[in-house]
Amino acid sequence: MEQYKGAPFGELSPHVFAVADASYRAMMNDGQSQSILVSGESGAGKTETTKLIMQYLTYVGGRAAGDERTVEQQVLESNPLLEAFGNARTVRNDNSSRFGKFVEIQFDASGRISGAAIRTYLLERSRVVQITDPERNYHCFYQLCASGKDAEKYKLGHPSHFHYLNQSKVYELDGVSNAEEYMKTRTAMDIVGISHEDQEAIFRTLAAILHLGNIEFSPGKEHDSSVLKGQKSSFHMQMAANLFMCDMNLLLATLCTRTIQTREGIIIKALDCNAAVSSRDALAKTVYARLFDWLVDKINTTVGQDLNSQIQIGVLDIYGFECFKDNRIKFPSNSPMFFD
Ligand SMILES: Nc1ncnc2c1ncn2[C@@H]1O[C@H](COP(=O)(O)OP(=O)(O)OP(=O)(O)O)[C@@H](O)[C@H]1O
Ligand SMILES: [Mg+2]
Repeated sequence: MEQYKGAPFGELSPHVFAVADASYRAMMNDGQSQSILVSGESGAGKTETTKLIMQYLTYVGGRAAGDERTVEQQVLESNPLLEAFGNARTVRNDNSSRFGKFVEIQFDASGRISGAAIRTYLLERSRVVQITDPERNYHCFYQLCASGKDAEKYKLGHPSHFHYLNQSKVYELDGVSNAEEYMKTRTAMDIVGISHEDQEAIFRTLAAILHLGNIEFSPGKEHDSSVLKGQKSSFHMQMAANLFMCDMNLLLATLCTRTIQTREGIIIKALDCNAAVSSRDALAKTVYARLFDWLVDKINTTVGQDLNSQIQIGVLDIYGFECFKDNRIKFPSNSPMFFD
C-alpha cells in the first residue's frame, strides 16, 4: 500500500491498489466522485478485490489509529457480516456472493472517510429452502449449528438434522471452522454496533427458519387439506412458533390454508400437502430476505452517512456469472411453479 500511494498510474506493476489509488487521486484532484466496477466470473476474485480496495481507501483516507469503532473499521467489518448471511458454497467458489453489493465510501473535503452506505441487490432467496450437492446454504446456518451453547438454546444440532441443510451432504468447508466463524460473525456484529439483544433476535430467527423447514404435512380428513405429520413435525412447529414469538395455531393456519378476498367476502380454502410445503418455503424465504435487508439497514444506520459529503468512491461487487448445462431449478412435476 505504501508503494502504490501517490505513484503515477502505470508506473508500477498492475495492482488493485494502483486502481484504488488512481480513483482516490482523481477524486481529490478533480473534486469528483468516482466508481469502481469489479467484474469477472464466479470465483474470479471480485469480493476479495473489493475488500482490498476498501482496505486501501481506509489506508489513504483513514483517521489516526486509536479511535475506537471508526467508520472505516465498521465498513471493513461489514464484509464478514454480510458474507455470513449472503455468501454460500457453490460448485465454483466456497465463498460465493449470492447478492450484489454497492458500497459508497464518503469523504470530507480533506480526503478523510466521513461516512458510508451499503446497498445490496437481488439476494438469491431460493437457496434458503433448496440446495443441491455439493453446494451449501448460507454460511450463517452452519455457524449457528456449531455455536455450542447458543445452538442448544434453540434446540439445534448437527446440520444433517435439518431439511434446509441436509439436501446437500456438504456441511464443512476446507480449512474453515464453523464454530470459529460464528465467533467472528459475533465480533463483527459488535464492531458494526448491533446490540446483543438484536444479535439474539437475529440468531433466533435463523433457528426458527431451520425448525420451520422440518415441518412436514400429511393429508387431512377433508378433501385437499393438510395437517401436521406426526410428533416430529409438531415439535418443530412448536419450536418455530416459539422462536418467531407467534401463536402456533395461527402459524399452522397460515401454512395450511389460503385466505381469498372476494366481492362476497373472505373465503378460507384448505391447502393440500404440496401447497402447504410451498407456503412453508415461501415464508422461510421471505423471513430470510427481510432479515438480510434489516441487517443491511442496521449496518447503514450505525455506520452513518455524511450528509455534507460532496465526494465519494463507489465500489460495486456483483455476483459472478455462472454457466450451467441446464440453467433452471427443477420443480417436482406436481408442484405449482413459484417464481421469486
Ligand atoms: N487476491 C487474492 N488472494 C488470494 N486468494 C484469492 C484472491 N482473490 C481470490 N482469492 C481466492 O479465490 C476465492 C474466490 O474469490 P472471491 O470470493 O473474491 O470470488 P468472486 O469473484 O467474488 O466470486 P462470486 O462471483 O462467486 O462471488 C477466494 O475465496 C480466495 O480463496
Ligand atoms: Mg463474490
